[in-house]
This record gives sequence, structure tokens and C-alpha cells, in this order.
Amino acid sequence: MSALETSIDTLYQRHLALTKNLDWGYHRLLPWEIGRNFSDHPWQEHEGTLSKEMTIAVETAMLTEINLPWFTSTLMGAFSSAPRSLLRFVHTWTREEDQHGRVLDVYLLLSRNGNPDDRVATQKTVIEAGWLSQYADPFALMVYTSLQELATRVFYLSLARAVADQDPTLATILRTVAKDETLHYTFYRDAVQLYLESDPGRLAVVCAVIPNFTMPGHGMPDFPRRMKIIAEHAGYGISQYYQQVLQVVLNTWGVLEYTSSKATSAPQQHLARYLRTVQKLAERSEREA
Ligand SMILES: [Fe+2]
Ligand SMILES: [Fe+2]
Repeated sequence: MSALETSIDTLYQRHLALTKNLDWGYHRLLPWEIGRNFSDHPWQEHEGTLSKEMTIAVETAMLTEINLPWFTSTLMGAFSSAPRSLLRFVHTWTREEDQHGRVLDVYLLLSRNGNPDDRVATQKTVIEAGWLSQYADPFALMVYTSLQELATRVFYLSLARAVADQDPTLATILRTVAKDETLHYTFYRDAVQLYLESDPGRLAVVCAVIPNFTMPGHGMPDFPRRMKIIAEHAGYGISQYYQQVLQVVLNTWGVLEYTSSKATSAPQQHLARYLRTVQKLAERSEREA
């Protein structure tokens, strides 16, 4: 085993130890007592515990999570020749992610938030469309998943705060899911750090991946409108992405502080220009809020 493989394995063992303390079952979090069947009690517009905007935010989260089969197959493909502990991590990660889509889907059905017929039609469209990463390189994909897991964590915690008054049960579900996302982010973040330490030239890949980041649900119907609603009503938009995701990841990896080499100075400058643009957009959205 190479030094890098040994270090990745240590991260994986740490992940297993941390998730042991966190183990949860979705059956304990859901409000089963309020459930009714839709044949004798057809869904009506006025039903539900959430505002329309919060319903759209939770549906968007669920529609992202349910594409897990495609995320798993993409990760398994990209990691096929990577250290074995990365492949083992994908198995464990899939086990953990598996509850996320289900708990949100069943919650929406039990609480009668949103039209279930429309939603199931959208679910089918999303799953059939699938998901493919633009990155075949395991390192590039881990840079992407670091951003994605942290963005998802920040989004769930913001949404939990936004729905707390309307439905405390949902807030608890979202905070529980966010804990899983935190540990996923932690694993990928530290794996990227190890790869960077073993080959600082990989910094150019980090600089290339970050400006192209989009959330994995970006292909679902109405995605831009959904993100606008989430930014305006659920407290997660460009400003939170800039401050609580991008800045955190970049500072942790020290991306802009790395001493430039010939190979990395142009990508670092490109990234710095991108960051200035995002910063301006974030500041503008704060002024308009
Ligand atoms: Fe998830
Ligand atoms: Fe995750």
C-alpha cells in the first residue's frame, strides 16, 4: 500500500467510527400518525404544513437525493482504479445517502405538502434522465463532491431554520440529514488535502473544477426558478454559497496561498478572477435582500 493509500484508509476508518455514533433510522423521524391514504382522501391544494415556497425547497432536495443510483454508479466508475478505501467509502456513503431521498419523500407524502401526482411524475423524469459527472478523474471528482457535500449541508441547515416555525418535525429531519452531509464533506475535504500534499501540481485541477461547479440536481425541471425561490425564502443563495461553501473550502485547502509554480499560476489567476465575480454577485444579493 502506498503512503497515500494508507492515509485514505485511515480517513475511511475515521468515517466509520464517526458514523457509528450518528446512526439513525428514518422510521423514527417520520410523523406516521398523520398519514392517510390518497384513494379515500384525495390530496387537496389547501392541505399541508408548509408554505408553497418551503414545499418547493423540500421537493428540490428530495428530487436531488433520489438520483442516488446514478451518483453511485458514476462514483464507482470514476474510482475503479483509485485506492480501494475510496471504493469502500462509496459503498458506505451510498448506505447513508439512501435514507435521504426516502425520508424527504415519505415526509412530503405523510404531511400532504405538494401535489403527490405531479411530484411522482417529476421523480420519474429526474430518475430516467440520470446523472453523469463531467469528471472521470477521481481527484477532480472529489474536489467536486467536497463542494457539493458542503453546499448540501449548508442548504439543509438553512432550510431547517426556515421551516422550524411551520413544521418542527421537518426541521429535525433536515438537521439529521445535514449531519450525514457534514461527515461526507469532511471525508472528501481531507482526501483532497492528502492528494494535494502528495502532488501540489494537482492544484491546477482544483482551480479548474471550482468555477464549473453546479449542484447535481441542476438538470431537474425548473431548476433556476427553484434556486431563486430557495435563495429568497430558504436562506440559501449566492451569498451563502460564497461565504459558507467556497471560502471555507478554499481556506481549508489554502488554494490561493499555495506558492505558484509555472503549471499552477495561470489556473490560480483564473480562479481568483472567478472568485471576484462571485464576490460581487454575493455582495449585490446581500444589498438587495
Ligand atoms: Fe444526501
Ligand atoms: Fe452526502
